[in-house]
Amino acid sequence: MKNEMLIKTANALIENNKGILAMDESAPTIQKRFAQYGIAQNEETRRAYRELIITTKGLNKFISGVILFDETIRQQKKDGTSFVKVITDAGIIPGIKVDMGAKSMAGHSGEKITEGLDGLHNRLEEYQKLGARFAKWRAVITIGNGIPSRGCIDANAHVLARYASLCQDLGILPIVEPEVIMDGNHTIEMCSEVTEEVQRAVFRHLYVQGVMLEGMLLKPNMIVSGLNCTTQPSVDEVADATVQCLKRSVPAAVPGIMFLSGGQSNELASARLNAMNNRYKGELPWGLSFSYGRAIQQPALEIWHGDDANYELAQKLLYHRSMCNHAARCGNYNASMETI
Ligand code: 13P
Repeated sequence: MKNEMLIKTANALIENNKGILAMDESAPTIQKRFAQYGIAQNEETRRAYRELIITTKGLNKFISGVILFDETIRQQKKDGTSFVKVITDAGIIPGIKVDMGAKSMAGHSGEKITEGLDGLHNRLEEYQKLGARFAKWRAVITIGNGIPSRGCIDANAHVLARYASLCQDLGILPIVEPEVIMDGNHTIEMCSEVTEEVQRAVFRHLYVQGVMLEGMLLKPNMIVSGLNCTTQPSVDEVADATVQCLKRSVPAAVPGIMFLSGGQSNELASARLNAMNNRYKGELPWGLSFSYGRAIQQPALEIWHGDDANYELAQKLLYHRSMCNHAARCGNYNASMETI
């Protein structure tokens, strides 16, 4: 019964070539983004911005699920309607970020371990009552001098697997997100090597903890070179390297791979996803889609500026990026779609 529910949720999130909109920035993270654009930083602006996102008309043509943050899942529209009702009425599935953030890892200089397992069962039960049908946990792996260490990779993989098993126990679909971050000057080859090692560790731990692969989704990074690397790969090189790495490390039983954008430009996030779906059409065991935060929201947040006068234009831009990424999921995106 629980397994059927998990499989049903996984399918509902990946079917019809839709993807996920991540709007689960913690309060400090969204404040940082607001500060970048000179937007006032308080609970009301956070609420108003999230209302703008979820009331965008037609979003459900491209978006199957949204990931919320603890504060957001409890919020309402100005007229008192709960966000969860607005989302579910639009035929979109509400999900929730349940990790408590990546913190410095003891004994591992420059590395992080994600916290939040203590009391997670109770928190998941509460989120389920509030309407969440899936969850997300992000682990952060950094490439640098002598890192990542085996200790950091294994600890994060173990915690991801414990989280996933707690979710499945309640019938909540876990999104497993091991993110190898783009910061650094490493090559694309190094990113591939590290990501493969991380994915292999994650699936080993998921197996040990008895996680049902058909009832989860993976949210990985693409294989790219570091932001400060002097050699940057082409769109097709990223697509090929990413597919090769995932083929080597992700079991075919996983129904969907929903990429994070991780700081890529909006256009590259669409173009690279498109290249994978275009070049490997019909060849892959899993669906390849998106679970983007910044690469969907950025233009809308920038234009909104906390000003009601820009509300409609911001929604138009959010709709547009969602449409571009939906096209990329189908392998039908092209740069001319960027002119609106
Ligand atoms: P980005 O697409 O902005 O990387 O965010 C996705 C996400 O959910 C990170 O945890």
